[in-house]
Amino acid sequence: MSKSWQAVLKHKALNAWGLFCLLSIPMSLVMVAEMLRTDLSAPTGVSHLISYAVRWAVPLIYLVTAASALHALFPGPLSTWLMRNRKHVGLSFAVAMAWQGLFIFLVSTSHRDYYFSEIFLLRDEIEGSTGYLFLAAMVATSFEVGRRLLSAAQWKLLHRSGVYFLWAYPFSVYWWNLFIYPDPRPIDYVFYWGGFIAFALRIAAWGRKRQQAALRAAAGSVPTANRIAGASLIACGLAAAGTGGWWQKSVTGFLTAPEWSANLVAWLPFWPFELFLPLVAVGLGTLTATTGRAAGSGFPEPAAD
Ligand code: HEM
Repeated sequence: MSKSWQAVLKHKALNAWGLFCLLSIPMSLVMVAEMLRTDLSAPTGVSHLISYAVRWAVPLIYLVTAASALHALFPGPLSTWLMRNRKHVGLSFAVAMAWQGLFIFLVSTSHRDYYFSEIFLLRDEIEGSTGYLFLAAMVATSFEVGRRLLSAAQWKLLHRSGVYFLWAYPFSVYWWNLFIYPDPRPIDYVFYWGGFIAFALRIAAWGRKRQQAALRAAAGSVPTANRIAGASLIACGLAAAGTGGWWQKSVTGFLTAPEWSANLVAWLPFWPFELFLPLVAVGLGTLTATTGRAAGSGFPEPAAD
């Protein structure tokens, strides 16, 4: 990257609160413009605004999810810039979600009948409210005054779980749109694969750390069988990620066959977790392909980011 680009990435307007304003002010103006164009007296109009607002939020949470992995895999000025500004990208995500929250409030108060007949579903409500609780706690603890209430380990646990949950929510929405509902739209493909890639990058960065630990272990080596098995699992995971429509019905049927499992579908977010199986296969493949012997004991587990 040229020196002038590096200077651009250090500009005040592209960092910290400058970046926050650059992302959230135009986004809010666009939101107001869309509100003015929409018939707010019709519940379907407000519902449209809910979707509209969240589409601004989704790319931001994916960027936050992938930031540390991009930095580990592709060190350079751009990934360093993203890593440095992760918090402010996250806060801009919170602004977009606040807009969605406002529209949800509007529809649930001024169009109560529509809300309870067309929108309200216990499981979605639990999922969405959990997402907003995470978001509120993450925003509050992004500032010194809130941060002081938690230990470093608690802060890390809250923010990592929150990012995972807030990544999983849209990822699951677009997975359903692609593989369960008919007539997926182009945006469903973009946001499904965007979410998949964001998480797969995290797995790749974790695998890279394990590989580096292997290189550091003097006698370390990964048996060829592990490499082949790992690569095969990763290939299966990638294939499954693109073919959900082929296996979803049978896998979901199998996982929800016991009565207790079928009951969980009513309220447990994301249950039975079948949409995550391709990523689990990619993760297991990465684990297998980077597991070997360091002087007969296995490689040390690298610290997570
Ligand atoms: C109690 C909280 C929530 C409620 C009641 C709610 C409700 C809704 C509604 C009514 C829609 C529009 C569906 C339609 O187009 O007909 C929607 C879409 C969506 N919501 Fe939420 N939501 C909540 C929380 C969340 C959270 C925390 C996220 C996480 C990012 C999220 C992500 C999405 C996504 C990705 C869409 C699809 C947008 C699209 O059409 O592309 N929602 N939500």
